[in-house]
Parts: sequence; C-alpha cells; structure tokens
Amino acid sequence: MTMSNSSPIQFAYWVPNVSGGLVISSINQRTHWDHHYNRQLAQTAENVGFDYALTQIRFMAGYGAENQHESVTFSQDLLSVTKQLKVIAALLPGPWNPALAAKQIATISTLYGARIAVNIVSGWFRGEFKAIGESWLDHEERYLRSEEFIRCLQGVWTQPVFNFAGDFYRFRDYALNPKPLEPLPEIFQGGSSRAARDMAARVSDWYFTNGGSVEYIQQQIDDIRAKAQLNHHQVKIGVNGFAIARDSEQEARAVLQDILRHSNVNAVKSFQAEVQNAGNASPEKEGNWAKSTLEDLVQYNDGFKTNLIGTPLQIAQRIIEYKKAGVNLMLLGFLHVQEELEYFGKKVIPLVRQLEHESAL
Ligand SMILES: Cc1cc2nc3c(=O)[nH]c(=O)nc-3n(C[C@H](O)[C@H](O)[C@H](O)COP(=O)(O)O)c2cc1C
Repeated sequence: MTMSNSSPIQFAYWVPNVSGGLVISSINQRTHWDHHYNRQLAQTAENVGFDYALTQIRFMAGYGAENQHESVTFSQDLLSVTKQLKVIAALLPGPWNPALAAKQIATISTLYGARIAVNIVSGWFRGEFKAIGESWLDHEERYLRSEEFIRCLQGVWTQPVFNFAGDFYRFRDYALNPKPLEPLPEIFQGGSSRAARDMAARVSDWYFTNGGSVEYIQQQIDDIRAKAQLNHHQVKIGVNGFAIARDSEQEARAVLQDILRHSNVNAVKSFQAEVQNAGNASPEKEGNWAKSTLEDLVQYNDGFKTNLIGTPLQIAQRIIEYKKAGVNLMLLGFLHVQEELEYFGKKVIPLVRQLEHESAL
C-alpha cells in the first residue's frame, strides 16, 4: 500500500440501506432505502467517479431509521450490478464472529473480483445490543474484541492454517479455502477515540472518522501515523462529510439552515443520549460525538463540521485542504441522494482532479 498523498483523493458515499436519510430532520429528503433505488445509485456512482460505496449495519430502528437492510447481503447486491465500484460491508463484532465473516467475505471476493471490503464497527447503540440479546462490553473491551476480530480475519485470509488463542476468539488448525482473491479485502474501521486510533495504528488498512475541522482531523492523523510508524504499519484515512453543493454559496447555506430549522429535536436529543456510549464512554472521553453540539448531531456522523457546503469550487478547494492534511478518502452523504451524488460527481470531482493536477498533489 502506498502512503504517498500524490495519489488522487478517493471518494465514497453512504449507501442508503437504512431508511430515513442521513439527517434527523423533517425536511424532504429524496432518497430511498430499497434495492431498486440503490442499484441505480451505485451505477451512477461508479459512472461519475466514486471509488467506494459504504453500507451500514443497523439491527433495529432508532431516531428515524425505521427499516434497515443487512449490510453484507446488500453489499453483494450492489456488487452484482456494478463493474468497478468497491463496496464496503459493515461488520459488527458480537453479532458476527470472525469465522463466519471471513468465510462470507472470501466467497464474495471470489464472486465479484476482489471488490468487497469491510468496515469493522465496534458498537455505540446499546439498546440495539440489548434488543438482540448480545452482551454489551465497555468501550475498551469493545475495541479489544474488534482488534482480535481483525487479526482473525487477516490470519484466516492469509495463513494456510490458522491458530489463534485470544480473549474473545479461538481458532485451532483452521484452513479456510478458498481464500479471498488478491488484493485481499481492505479493512476499514469506524470510530475516533484513542482506542480506535491505537487499533488503526496496529491492524487496520483504513481509519474512518466522523466529520471535523481540518485542524481536528490533522491532529488525529498525526497521532495515528506516529503510532503506526512505531508499529511498522501503514494506515489510510477517510473522513465523513455531508456535502451540499449548489450553483451559489447562498443557495447551499440556505439548504443547511432549512435542514437545521426542521430538525427533529426530540430524536436528536435521544440520539445524543445514546451516543454517550461511544467516545464519551472511553477513559479519555474523546472520540465520535464526544464534543458534538445538538446542531452537529442532526447529521449522524458530524458531517456538517467538515463544511463541504458551497459551490463546487469552494468544496473542491476544501477537499484539497483535507488532502494536504493527509486525508486519502472523503466519505460523502447527501440530502437528495441520487441527484446530488450525480451533481457532485460531475461538478466537484473534476475540479478536485484539476486542483490536484495544478498543485502537483
Ligand atoms: C464512517 C463510519 C461508519 C460507521 N458505520 C457504522 C455502522 O454501520 N454501524 C454501527 O453500528 N456503527 C457504525 N459506526 C460507529 C463506530 O463503529 C463506533 O462505534 C463509533 O464511531 C464510536 O467509536 P469511538 O468511540 O471510537 O469514537 C461508524 C462510524 C464511522 C466513523
């Protein structure tokens, strides 16, 4: 894996396999969670320059997500209707065990030419775990389990015969065949606490984080890359952003104000209470949502903070700032998903490429 930031910055989008859109607001959101809408969206995405699609794992409703399609199955469906797009399936240790996950993903890799990747998510939604009878570990233990999970995936995928004796998982002379195709499925991880950064610096290929200012993201990157270097490990960085691209800045800002004005305050407050189980439950009390205001939380993953709001040129310039800070991928959410993803791909991505070329980035 090359760490050179001269490679073009990559683009991913949130697959709406969960209903209700990406903002907790009663504003009209033209999107749909079904497979018809999503197949067309994935095809558009690969045609207009997106590299990855990220599916979400949610087992139950909460804060508006009334319907949720399962992530691995849904990812496979998107792979079946696309040619180059890579699809990232979210796996939640606990409900998934690594033997089943490794087997599922290896088969999908074979079926779809190594275009499947995984996002290991460590859990923030305690009510969900309770509802499906999964025990809820504390924040540090969740990350210890996730790290073992990742080590098991990597071991099973690469070693002819795999042995592992961990606190959470055990393998004894296990041979997975067939192995996934090369390049092996990339391992993303979502989360921003110190435990998340330490895990990324040891085992993950990609660190995915909620939205934040360039300075905040830069601090995280510096921390991760310094630790990773000590571990002789390399990790790429992906940052979430909620994009509102319009022909004029005024128009784009007005959309943000509209979203906020129509926010569903009770649902946002409930979400705020639930996400206390994430970074704020860590010993350092930092990480995703630990410092988010009510306004920030209207977008599930702090995407307004990234400030991809304005004209295509303003947004492209902002993306270049993140790239200079060491970001390798922008993960994007949209209000009217199909039309805005297409607009972004046609208007913003070419400008990013032009700016990259001009500044020899
Ligand atoms: C890009 C991204 C995608 C995520 N996707 C999911 C998901 O699909 N399902 C889920 O339960 N949690 C998801 N999470 C939540 C994280 O796995 C994690 O539990 C949360 O961010 C708290 O981590 P922290 O305490 O280390 O900051 C995602 C997080 C990020 C940043």
